[in-house]
Amino acid sequence: MKTTILLFHPDLHASRANKVLAKAAQAAGIEVRDIYSQYPAGQIDVKKEQAVLETTDRIVFQFPMYWYATPSLMKEWLDQVLEYGWAYGSTGNALQGKKVILAVTQGAGAEDYTADGRFHVTTQELLKPLETIKYHTGLVFEEPFVVSGVLNLSEEALSDAANSYIARLSQA
Ligand SMILES: Cc1cc2nc3c(=O)[nH]c(=O)nc-3n(C[C@H](O)[C@H](O)[C@H](O)COP(=O)(O)O)c2cc1C
Repeated sequence: MKTTILLFHPDLHASRANKVLAKAAQAAGIEVRDIYSQYPAGQIDVKKEQAVLETTDRIVFQFPMYWYATPSLMKEWLDQVLEYGWAYGSTGNALQGKKVILAVTQGAGAEDYTADGRFHVTTQELLKPLETIKYHTGLVFEEPFVVSGVLNLSEEALSDAANSYIARLSQA
């Protein structure tokens, strides 16, 4: 099963978590596509992105949570790449049955993302709009991979998270 990571981070040089996760994945032989560096002017090559998805079995969207949602280029990527007639519609079945993992990092702690916590919303609820894409596309969303509390995570905890990420992505 071929897995492709689409990494959406606007400033990877300044990244702690996503850089470590991406490097670990690359070292494990998993293809990581850094979408912000691919399209610095934000002009997405839709046909190229679709061709990449057509040859992969499992798509991992890896991104830092920004304002309880995705970085803006990821939203733009979804809006442009998941075209009518390709991703959905009567002839749009290119993504049917492909698997998806949302790999999300959060600055805030896991305890903040509970009904009674600081944000009064769970991560699962925040990811629901993305998962709802499955009804149009036939994508099969697997359990998200979430790393919370990145702002206070030790190097050791970060390295543990990277190991868990690789273990997860190594599962069929
Ligand atoms: C514009 C912006 C918005 C952010 N919004 C959130 C948020 O809604 N929830 C949260 O937990 N962290 C938020 N953060 C923190 C990032 O999610 C966190 O710094 C990132 O996941 C850490 O990954 P990195 O080390 O790869 O950058 C935000 C950061 C920025 C710059």
